Amino acid sequence: MGIWMETMKPPMEVLYAKQLNALRSQDTGTKPPNWLMSPRAVRDFILGTDEPLSYEGESIPITKKFYGDDVLIERAIVTLAGNRGLMLVGEPGTAKTMLSELLSAAISGTSTNTIQGTAGTTEDMIKYSWNYAMLLDKGPSLQALVPSPLYTGMSKGIITRFEEITRCPFEVQDVLISILSDKVMNIPELSDGILFAKPGFNIIATANLRDKGVNEMSSALKRRFNFETIAPINHVKMEAQIIESQAKVILEQSGVNIEIDRDVVEILATTFMELRMGETKEGFKIDSPQSVMSTAEAVSVYVQSAMTSHYYDGRSISMDRLVQNMLGAVVKENQKDANILKTYFTKVVKERAKEEGLWGTYYNEKKWIK
Ligand SMILES: Nc1ncnc2c1ncn2[C@@H]1O[C@H](COP(=O)(O)OP(=O)(O)OP(=O)(O)O)[C@@H](O)[C@H]1O
Ligand SMILES: [Mg+2]
Repeated sequence: MGIWMETMKPPMEVLYAKQLNALRSQDTGTKPPNWLMSPRAVRDFILGTDEPLSYEGESIPITKKFYGDDVLIERAIVTLAGNRGLMLVGEPGTAKTMLSELLSAAISGTSTNTIQGTAGTTEDMIKYSWNYAMLLDKGPSLQALVPSPLYTGMSKGIITRFEEITRCPFEVQDVLISILSDKVMNIPELSDGILFAKPGFNIIATANLRDKGVNEMSSALKRRFNFETIAPINHVKMEAQIIESQAKVILEQSGVNIEIDRDVVEILATTFMELRMGETKEGFKIDSPQSVMSTAEAVSVYVQSAMTSHYYDGRSISMDRLVQNMLGAVVKENQKDANILKTYFTKVVKERAKEEGLWGTYYNEKKWIK
């Protein structure tokens, strides 16, 4: 545990160790085989509880970590207790990865048993490979076998996360078909080479709708997963809550202890939401940029702006920094997106600048959008 706290991004089981311990100590629900928590406690961990739990003389609040569709979370947890895999799909930055990490941390106690899918992922990487020195010396043996995260998941009865599964070549995706149906992995190089999955094993895969997309997955593999589509946030309040809570965690981890400015968060959340949906809160249609205006991107704009303001201006966050960083987030794929942002300022922000305080300051920083 000690070393993890010093890393840049501690895994969820470390970041939330206290909450997990508190929940486990009071968990009276039935647990599926090899799970560390009941489905009810897993849900509470992800969605939070109204009352804090007392644990070892401390009062531990169980915070809300995922905002959006609560029922989706229950379905996802139940899927993992059954014999089909869980496939989380959605636009970029909709918390697919975060959710898969939270689920694995709660259920199996680890979120780091992970395969990162890329165009270069090979069958060896997802099954097993060999320690060649040992292989040449003694021939194929269990000791010479180097397990993949999938192998580890099966042998220990824990969850394996498979990130960006649709970016992998077809042959690799196909390996999963037999594993998900029969829950065994054949190891033909060994004499009695067959690995049976222990209960508790399952796969959480994530796939991004903007990448290759799930359409290119074989239908055989699709049938072995329950799909859950995570929709982008569509309430300004919720978006603002996520920005506030996430920015706080990230800034603290970066050693910057500043108050989060709620009014700035609200402007940022409103801008991102309106540009994403192509509609203002008053119901007027506007153009949407080609770039993904994800919640994750909004969090990062806040964090960048706050850090720049902190280090160079001695302030917690200033509007010029916000607009400069926003421009960077919007203009990624296409220069036209800068014009869309500019039009947003001259049409929407200008109107609000007439009456609502900080919107006026915001409007004055339009000069940065070139
Ligand atoms: N519904 C949400 N609830 C809580 N946090 C959210 C939500 N949506 C986005 N976020 C924030 O966005 C961050 C990024 O999410 P994550 O990396 O998990 O997205 P992703 O869907 O995996 O994106 P990608 O497709 O680009 O891999 C989260 O860590 C969290 O800060
Ligand atoms: Mg992801």
